[in-house]
Amino acid sequence: MNQHYLELRSLTKSFGKGETKVTAVDHIDLAVCEGELVTLLGPSGCGKTTTLRMIAGFHTPTSGDVLIDGVSVNALPPNKRPTAMVFQNYALFPHMTVAENIAYGLKIRGDSRESIDTQVEEMMNLIGLQGLAKRQPRELSGGQQQRVSLARALVMEPKVLLFDEPLSNLDAKLRVSTRLEIRKLQQRVGITSVYVTHDQEEAMTLSDKVVIMKDGIIQQIGSPSEIYSHPCNRFVAAFIGKANFLEADIVKVTDTQLLMKINGKDVSAPCWNKSIRKNDHVLVVARPESIILGEPSADLIEGTVRDSVYFGSQMLYEVQIATDQTVQIEIADPQHHKHYEKGTKVGLTFKDRSLHVLTELEGAGNET
Ligand SMILES: Nc1ncnc2c1ncn2[C@@H]1O[C@H](COP(=O)(O)OP(=O)(O)O)[C@@H](O)[C@H]1O
Ligand SMILES: [Mg+2]
Repeated sequence: MNQHYLELRSLTKSFGKGETKVTAVDHIDLAVCEGELVTLLGPSGCGKTTTLRMIAGFHTPTSGDVLIDGVSVNALPPNKRPTAMVFQNYALFPHMTVAENIAYGLKIRGDSRESIDTQVEEMMNLIGLQGLAKRQPRELSGGQQQRVSLARALVMEPKVLLFDEPLSNLDAKLRVSTRLEIRKLQQRVGITSVYVTHDQEEAMTLSDKVVIMKDGIIQQIGSPSEIYSHPCNRFVAAFIGKANFLEADIVKVTDTQLLMKINGKDVSAPCWNKSIRKNDHVLVVARPESIILGEPSADLIEGTVRDSVYFGSQMLYEVQIATDQTVQIEIADPQHHKHYEKGTKVGLTFKDRSLHVLTELEGAGNET
């Protein structure tokens, strides 16, 4: 496997000048391995589409480089780059049939009629569009149209496949099944892919690697589980899943453990960050499923149940632990747990090795 199949080096794009200047993408570095699917994830306006368009050649970088398979593609126009893009709105030609849409790029390239027919048929079989060759896009469902646009991209055998929020126009159920299909197909074909989304669940379920962006800057790159369990800062912790933020004072640091006080009570966490010292004031990320609800006791963090919502497979509690702080707690399998009514005093503990300590401190509170 080629470790740096697609590389972005200090890639930057600014729009406008003077007071209206916006730096949409700010010196980003990224290496994508051959066959990997990497998602760019972040809130609207963080620079995802701009990054993708620079890879495809639709935007010229203000500075920096795009390399594919070790070669700079900066000087190449989009149609000369070994990339293909799948768009949110499918961008199919409405007056052409499915087969004609898939064949379009091959025709422009000047492939022979016979070769085109074979490639189109193979692609329709691969993507599960058999029997739909003669239909026009308006005679297809949204999910089928998106498959056609995927087929049209793949048939060109690009080195890198680019997706810009391809599922946004589908309803929730279809989004889930289509994203699974995309993932299976991407793995079967083994094509290096960059996938843009603002949907964290989509990113987590699809990706080998997730790149979290904010204001044009990469915050963190990691596998879905690394990002969830070891977010590098508060923004990432809050953007991925739900997070409770608790302030703590470090009491003791060992090679493997951090001992600290939260609300005056002893708590321990695994030590990931070697820069944390005794007496540091830190922010602790506690995922809702990592908190255990129990009977109150002198050595446990005290709380009062303010609300509880039943979801069948889960019970969600809101527990107040200080005048200005409540935490969200998720209990899986609520049928087999004691239920705590509103107003009940409770004691909180944390599942083993479930806490993550951040060095930055922007004040505790809740964000979901
Ligand atoms: N063509 C453009 N001209 C001016 N500003 C732009 C242009 N395209 C994007 N921007 C700005 O760049 C920033 C990033 O946009 P974009 O890459 O589309 O974000 P995302 O895809 O993450 O929602 C935004 O502030 C957006 O307004
Ligand atoms: Mg976008």
